[in-house]
Amino acid sequence: MSSELIDGFGRKIDYVRLSVTDRCDFRCIYCMAEDMTFLPRQRILTLEEIFRSAQIFVANGVRKIRLTGGEPLTRKGIIGLCEQISALPGLDELVMTTNGSQLTKYAQQLADAGVKRLNISLDSLCPNKFKAMTRVGNLEQVLAGIQAARQAGFTSVKINSVVIQGHNEDEIMDLTDFAVENELDITFIEEMPLGHVGRKRELFTSDQVRERITQRYTLKESSESTGGPAHYMRLQDHSSTRIGFISPHSHNFCSSCNRIRLTVEGKLLLCLGNEDSLDLLALLRRHPTNNAPVLTAIKKALNYKPEKHYFSSEGDVQIIRFMNASGG
Ligand code: GTP
Ligand code: 5AD
Ligand code: SF4
Repeated sequence: MSSELIDGFGRKIDYVRLSVTDRCDFRCIYCMAEDMTFLPRQRILTLEEIFRSAQIFVANGVRKIRLTGGEPLTRKGIIGLCEQISALPGLDELVMTTNGSQLTKYAQQLADAGVKRLNISLDSLCPNKFKAMTRVGNLEQVLAGIQAARQAGFTSVKINSVVIQGHNEDEIMDLTDFAVENELDITFIEEMPLGHVGRKRELFTSDQVRERITQRYTLKESSESTGGPAHYMRLQDHSSTRIGFISPHSHNFCSSCNRIRLTVEGKLLLCLGNEDSLDLLALLRRHPTNNAPVLTAIKKALNYKPEKHYFSSEGDVQIIRFMNASGG
């Protein structure tokens, strides 16, 4: 039984983001409220169920799986799950998005378990501002984690920076310099209005980010893609760094969407900016040994994947679900 996953607009889905936990050791201001309640263990997918979902997706044309959280490295058994998923025949790449806080411990194990690329969140290079944005994070720990990833042999390490006016927009150049000096890629992200995190702020657009970078660097168009939402540019004279822009507000990329995400609660979200979902946890438990009805339900659900998100750039919350529970 092998087929492709195609949505109602003819978009081929070959990228699945699997969230392995809603928990995190940070409390980033754009992702969580200060006081969060996390899901109880009986409400989340087991590692076996996550792996079974991955098997079903990969058997049906999914070529890229990204493990996300919360912070994926806080989930017990994560390395074993990586080993299992990366060995699935037909998968091109298993990748992970992490806050980097535990990479000094896990980078080598992740590389050995077959994880191909790491995206690491880093919003500030200033210890106080880093603390202010993550509420509890330790910058030194994350910087050491980034170095550990390089030492473990990850050739592709990408920094993710969510740009927020009044918090880190004055660090765009420093973050770019950091990426250049360390031969890393970097993606600047426009903040999305998920969850009541207490945001009421003006959007800092990708075009504004680009303007800042061009005060020192020459940016060149690039048609490269990592199969995600980023639009990449290259820096003249610095070939080891790509600058990505993720611009859900200012440059909508939904027409080429190739992604769906599974939350750790077992909800298959058809779009980050939409509440429609399929209860995969219930299906997996109702059909413990038969994948056919699960696949049928997934294919049917894909007909309801919306054409695009309708995020407002005013920062008003439209999706109650927090980012940490959405899989980023
Ligand atoms: P690559 O595989 O390196 O291209 O990574 P990625 O950009 O797909 O994943 P990552 O976890 O690094 O996500 C970066 C940002 O893109 C996060 O803010 C995500 O929420 C956002 N993002 C990823 N996919 C989508 C999407 O389909 N829609 C929207 N609106 N945002 C997305
Ligand atoms: N808007 C945009 N990006 C976000 N992330 C978390 N919350 C938001 C948000 N509200 C990013 C993190 C991480 C990735 C998975 O999603 O910075 O790098
Ligand atoms: Fe944790 Fe990532 Fe959310 Fe920050 S953005 S609180 S690192 S899950």
